[in-house]
Amino acid sequence: MPNSVIVGAQWGDEGKAKVIDYLTEHSDIIIRFQGGANAGHTVIVDGKKFVFHLVPSGLMYPGKVCIVGNGVVFDPEQFLHEVDELDEHGISVKDRLFVSDLAHMVLPYHKAQDNASESTMGKGKIGTTGRGIGPAYADKVSRTGIRVGDLLNWDTFTAKFRQMFAQKRQLIEKIYNTEFVLNESDILDNYKKIRERMLPYIIDTTYYLFDSARNKKQLLFEGAQGTFLDIDHGTYPFVTSSNTISGSASTGCGIGPTLIDHVIGITKTYTTRVGNGPFPTELDNALGEKIRKDGGEFGATTGRPRRCGWFDSVMVRKAIQLNGMTRLALTKLDVLSDLDEIQICTHYEINGKKTDQYPSSCLDLEKAIPVYESIDGWKCDITRCTKISDLPSKALAYYNRLLKLCYDVPALIVSVGPDRNQTIEVTPLD
Ligand code: GDP
Ligand code: IMO
Ligand code: MG
Repeated sequence: MPNSVIVGAQWGDEGKAKVIDYLTEHSDIIIRFQGGANAGHTVIVDGKKFVFHLVPSGLMYPGKVCIVGNGVVFDPEQFLHEVDELDEHGISVKDRLFVSDLAHMVLPYHKAQDNASESTMGKGKIGTTGRGIGPAYADKVSRTGIRVGDLLNWDTFTAKFRQMFAQKRQLIEKIYNTEFVLNESDILDNYKKIRERMLPYIIDTTYYLFDSARNKKQLLFEGAQGTFLDIDHGTYPFVTSSNTISGSASTGCGIGPTLIDHVIGITKTYTTRVGNGPFPTELDNALGEKIRKDGGEFGATTGRPRRCGWFDSVMVRKAIQLNGMTRLALTKLDVLSDLDEIQICTHYEINGKKTDQYPSSCLDLEKAIPVYESIDGWKCDITRCTKISDLPSKALAYYNRLLKLCYDVPALIVSVGPDRNQTIEVTPLD
């Protein structure tokens, strides 16, 4: 199989992990390249559910190697927790899970800072996951971060930690006016144990990936979040703190872009968003509530209800452009099965002008009035369809219209249920 990057085409939770799981069988190495434990990636196999936050979803398959790349902000406590959980389910990660020595760590003070910042933002609050993501990336760019490789030398780690701990205390107490409840020696005692456990996982992942690619191993890059949470191209400031688009796969694990053959964009057949920020096709009404209920739209990381709305082709076209998508994976078609009528946003109207372009300004996006086209609902269960020709004609009409509005990028799969088996294959990767 070619080397592929998986990215979300909307605001996250598009069903990326289900597609990763589907492609893992034919891959050798699965790599996370950005984000951190803010991700919530759900894989369901034979009714058994796993949610991954930091480790790559490919670990479900025995024998596959998984890597956390340098572009990830790495929370060692969360990582070891996930390793333990997998172990309890009889899934061993020994000798097949590695972490880049260059990845920056998310430390307890980052989470305290994330929460302190949010609590002082009032209406401007981003609605973060509280996982310390923004502060950890900010420290990385400010060159005050502490990297996974710093754990290799305990004295180096403790010196850097003590210095930053003192700074964060000042920041949280004096600037955010919030109580700083963390205890330095408790954290260091804990990290001494964490360090011992982490040592076997820390390697120079760039050489590992380069050698693997030279030996024709198949690489699968697991994006987190979604295109419109990208720090540059998303709905800033209501975004996450990393580049979430496909170009980030290259910098986020130190491979050249020429190693990437395919970019697969995952999109729901409607739209969801968790957290604050503009959302033109949002259904803040009973219909939105119904989609939330039928689609089980509650955050896999925070449990927050996801905001729901119609499919927005303006957004997905922009996502195709930004990521260079060569395939689309359309998910959750089954969730719409009970609706009489389904709307698709084809254009926006902004300041009285019709446009098919996604505005780069968040202020303009807030003014966007979606222009819709209506499609009849199919009103029957599609969760057992295994071929595209099994779909009822009205579901097929909806599917064909979505693809047409999305530059006719071929579909890799259509997903008609959460389970690994509820996947209709359409155009395989060449
Ligand atoms: P990710 O963050 O993009 O990996 O997506 P999440 O795991 O956060 O959210 C997707 C949710 O939808 C999970 O609960 C999946 O089990 C579920 N899911 C994925 N594909 C389908 C589908 O085709 N139909 C239904 N009903 N659920 C799906
Ligand atoms: P996956 O990989 C959906 C959102 C948060 C918030 C904003 C910033 O499961 O698709 P952060 O904690 O990153 O600083 O929060 O980004 N967010 C996500 N929304 N899916 C995710 O990941 C998300 N990761 C972050 O809700 O609006
Ligand atoms: Mg998710």
